[in-house]
Amino acid sequence: MFIKKLKIGNVELENNIILAPMAGITDLPFRIICKNFGVGLVCTEMASSKAIFYGDEKTKKLLDITGEKRPISAQIFGSDIESMKVSAEYVSTFADILDINMGCPAPKVIKNGDGSKLLLNLELVENIVKEVVKVSKIPVTVKIRMGWDSENIVAVEAAKIIENAGASAITIHGRTRQDFFSGKCNLDIIKKVKENVKIPVIGNGDIIDGKTAKEMFEYTGVDGIMIGRGALRKPLDI
Ligand SMILES: Cc1cc2nc3c(=O)[nH]c(=O)nc-3n(C[C@H](O)[C@H](O)[C@H](O)COP(=O)(O)O)c2cc1C
Repeated sequence: MFIKKLKIGNVELENNIILAPMAGITDLPFRIICKNFGVGLVCTEMASSKAIFYGDEKTKKLLDITGEKRPISAQIFGSDIESMKVSAEYVSTFADILDINMGCPAPKVIKNGDGSKLLLNLELVENIVKEVVKVSKIPVTVKIRMGWDSENIVAVEAAKIIENAGASAITIHGRTRQDFFSGKCNLDIIKKVKENVKIPVIGNGDIIDGKTAKEMFEYTGVDGIMIGRGALRKPLDI
């Protein structure tokens, strides 16, 4: 009932269950294993657009997809428009979907204005997405958190901006940057985002088994779900 094909731009996924990008975890072997278990889409670990811009080989290796079944999403992060554009052109040469990370809470990422820090500057969000979409030859998706902190819950506004800027789908993790991973994922905000945009919305946060997956689909009405930490253990109800 909930599991179905999902179209992101011109890319059709066999199903709408997506493996979350996880730095240090979703490397090539891990993605191949998860794909063999049947997920509709896998994503690389996040790669720095600045590092791609400067031709860093280690970073380019993070985006190696040799031998993987398609489709594959590759994720980049950054806030400098020039390096984001160069990275988008580079990723367009080998991946099927380009995902922009606007949710990472890590200090080493936000100190440069990247990841979730962008949620404090929606004008920059708009410009980045517009410019990346212009040069990308593959569909562009954006992954966000619900905001920077409880005083800055911007998910709905950000999602509308991201849609108007030309993105083909949005993933939302129902926590703020300040939450990191504490508390419970907020399903209400995910539902609101789904109600406010037409492009596919993928719900993310705390899905660890069939029950929590069903709850995400049922409560929020999302088009697909993304599973991160739950993929690191055996589901409870199998
Ligand atoms: C170890 C680890 C690494 C992560 N790395 C990334 C990343 O590279 N890019 C990204 O967008 N999110 C990253 N995330 C966030 C996840 O993609 C996901 O949004 C978050 O874990 C919430 O989903 P979950 O409750 O299913 O784990 C990471 C999370 C973890 C636990």
